[in-house]
Amino acid sequence: MLELRNVSKLFNPGTPDEKVALSNIQLQLKEGDFVTIIGSNGAGKSTLMNIISGVMIPDSGEVWIGGKQVELMSEARRSEWIGRVFQDPMAGTAPTMTIQENMAIAYSRGKRRGLQLGVTARRKAFFREQLARLGLGLEQRLTAKVGLLSGGERQALSLLMATFTEPRILLLDEHTAALDPSRAELITNLTKQIVEELNLTTLMVTHNMEQAIRLGNRLIMMDKGRIILDVPEEEKKGLTVERLLREFERIRGEKFVDDRVVLG
Ligand SMILES: Nc1ncnc2c1ncn2[C@@H]1O[C@H](COP(=O)(O)OP(=O)(O)O)[C@@H](O)[C@H]1O
Ligand SMILES: [Mg+2]
Repeated sequence: MLELRNVSKLFNPGTPDEKVALSNIQLQLKEGDFVTIIGSNGAGKSTLMNIISGVMIPDSGEVWIGGKQVELMSEARRSEWIGRVFQDPMAGTAPTMTIQENMAIAYSRGKRRGLQLGVTARRKAFFREQLARLGLGLEQRLTAKVGLLSGGERQALSLLMATFTEPRILLLDEHTAALDPSRAELITNLTKQIVEELNLTTLMVTHNMEQAIRLGNRLIMMDKGRIILDVPEEEKKGLTVERLLREFERIRGEKFVDDRVVLG
């Protein structure tokens, strides 16, 4: 469903500010895979998401989605297959527009022209039905401005908008990080439910190691633009936060030794 072949991305190449964001990333996801991604700040997690969704073009390497090579394809053209939710609850929705207007825009995303942006009675009923699934009462507030919603409500709406057009891939970039624990739990459960129901191929970046272990069927750890640990389903079941931290130290230590050997 999703494959990255030798993908690299450098920022500010040839300057003192040069940053390796991704270095020869190889990644293959089967349909329905739910992969959690952890890694320190600057590891390249968001860049990975940006390259998959088409916000950024890699310096080298290929990106394949459902058998199509897409690394040069525009973000708009890929959006039919990709749903995305960001960390910032303000990022995924337009605050001065109403809930139903936001949903209408999301609904037309990636669709052929000719589909109107308007909110017909039939579409309104569909929006209501979708909103009701969130269990937040938003279906009663179709004409409320999104700017009036709480962070949790906006994030729930963003998740719904990212998925109700039934994309094939879902990209979540720390989408619960800005929420208080109970709201984060709500959005996490909702995520699990939607991913399972639509059999979405999912990449979820999280700072929460316990969550990364608990959710999904595979766990990836990134560091300095590389995938340094890739834990398959069976091993993931027995994983603990302590072990994950130990692995991280061990791998980092080995790399350090390797570097010294190379520097020689
Ligand atoms: N637009 C950009 N311009 C310059 N450097 C960037 C840009 N985006 C990311 N970087 C750098 O690339 C590296 C990876 O960043 P990022 O993918 O955001 O990491 P993460 O999401 O894991 O914290 C970091 O060193 C970061 O400073
Ligand atoms: Mg990031």
